[in-house]
Amino acid sequence: MRHIVLIGFMGSGKTKTGKRLAEELGLAFVDVDRKITSEMKMSVTDIFNRFGEVFFRALETRAIKELMEEERRAVISVGGGLPMQEQNHKYLKELGTIVYLKGSAETLQKRLEGDHARPLLAGSKMDEKIRKMLQTREPVYEKLADVTVLTGSQPMKKLIREISVKCEMFENQYYMKSNSTL
Ligand code: S3P
Repeated sequence: MRHIVLIGFMGSGKTKTGKRLAEELGLAFVDVDRKITSEMKMSVTDIFNRFGEVFFRALETRAIKELMEEERRAVISVGGGLPMQEQNHKYLKELGTIVYLKGSAETLQKRLEGDHARPLLAGSKMDEKIRKMLQTREPVYEKLADVTVLTGSQPMKKLIREISVKCEMFENQYYMKSNSTL
């Protein structure tokens, strides 16, 4: 089954957009961070503080592997760091159409201001951290993406419409290609 997978930096709106998109398309919605925190019964920050980032990354890989068994067609939102683990790429690709929610550093900084739920941005100089991380992450997100949309520059309704149309076009091409190789 081919799902829709949302990737992007923290603050790009993956969860909010994912929920709305799922509603609009009549699909289930799965948030990988949420799946992890409800299974661990701990917040992301507590998992980082108690067990460290490496452990959290292992939980992400386990969660995404488990999603290969998801029987409902779904919109799946993954944490900003999950695509940075190369071993996760094959799972992301197998899950379905990958949509990159791309936000400018300014948009992301504005949205993340005052946020305390992201351990990687904790402490001082958040803007600098965002800019640096975005530099290393953006090329990975772009390489993985089947579809890219800009966030922060248009109303939610328009954004959802753009994602739906672009995903449908990508899926059609995908099926045409896979039929021609049969
Ligand atoms: C992280 C992003 C977070 C969460 C964790 C690490 C990252 O998810 O998984 O704090 O490394 O970018 P969101 O992208 O949903 O904020």
